[in-house]
Amino acid sequence: MLAPKNQADGLRNAAASSPGHLKNKKALRCIAIASGKGGVGKTFVSVNTAMALASLGNKVLLIDADLGLANVDILMGKNPEHTLHDAIFHGTPIKDIVCKTEFGVDFLPASSGERDMLNIGSARLTNVVQELMAYAADYDILMFDCGAGINKSVTSFIAAAPQTLIVMTMEPTSIMDAYALMKVARQDKLSENISVVLNMVRSDEQGHKVFKNLTKISQNYLYSPVNLLGIIPYSPLVHKAVLNRKPLFALDSKGEVATRLKQIAGRIMGDPAVNINDFNAEAILKGIMNI
Ligand SMILES: Nc1ncnc2c1ncn2[C@@H]1O[C@H](COP(=O)(O)OP(=O)(O)OP(=O)(O)O)[C@@H](O)[C@H]1O
Ligand SMILES: [Mg+2]
Repeated sequence: MLAPKNQADGLRNAAASSPGHLKNKKALRCIAIASGKGGVGKTFVSVNTAMALASLGNKVLLIDADLGLANVDILMGKNPEHTLHDAIFHGTPIKDIVCKTEFGVDFLPASSGERDMLNIGSARLTNVVQELMAYAADYDILMFDCGAGINKSVTSFIAAAPQTLIVMTMEPTSIMDAYALMKVARQDKLSENISVVLNMVRSDEQGHKVFKNLTKISQNYLYSPVNLLGIIPYSPLVHKAVLNRKPLFALDSKGEVATRLKQIAGRIMGDPAVNINDFNAEAILKGIMNI
């Protein structure tokens, strides 16, 4: 391969060359968890849905794709030795960065407070993404816990993942932001498969009402229905779990919230898996670079 002349060439080369060497790999599922508005429970849903998916017998890799305020490690109750930052800046192999947990979920930690990675050059990042794809090929499910907002990083991770899960609460601001994100995703053709999880819901009845309104708006303005993947109730145990640095799914595996998470996991399994060779490596690169 010729040396890339500039960043755009580098990204295109990455997309073209990665991960073609992954022959005969089984198909896997890949889900981006996003929201628009911050603080609605993306990381909570990511970590605990990952565990619910693992409880169904899947090998799950959760990637902390919130490169500004990473905190999957906190909800997992772990203090990882390395983060994605070490792969990019120090050449640490991905396999030495991935943190294995007793919850049946492995995760790739990121570090908080990173500035965007535009300056490091695409060649090095291309290698990291290719290594990540090769590593991820051994998993059944790949999940990206995205940051808040509708920035380039988030839209790139949505473009990379065949399934997108938008988390929202009952607050009007959260509903508006979720709608705005869906609009961008549809208009820019980022994803065909977008569904919604309502979180911190005080009653299912209320949740269904909000969802009905969202569907109406989406049908009228975006000409597409919205799929409701699940409703998760507000629970004080979520706070207790964070304080105990133990995921809720482990703290209360038979409770109402865990039951809902298992339903969501079952519905995710209803969607088709994709071959890793069809993954959009360029979009993952762009997600990390925030371009
Ligand atoms: N179902 C729930 N019941 C009660 N509290 C919840 C629930 N889900 C999340 N929370 C709480 O809401 C807060 C935000 O959760 P979380 O960090 O997962 O949100 P986030 O969307 O990932 O935030 P950010 O946008 O900063 O990444 C946390 O304090 C968490 O414990
Ligand atoms: Mg988060």
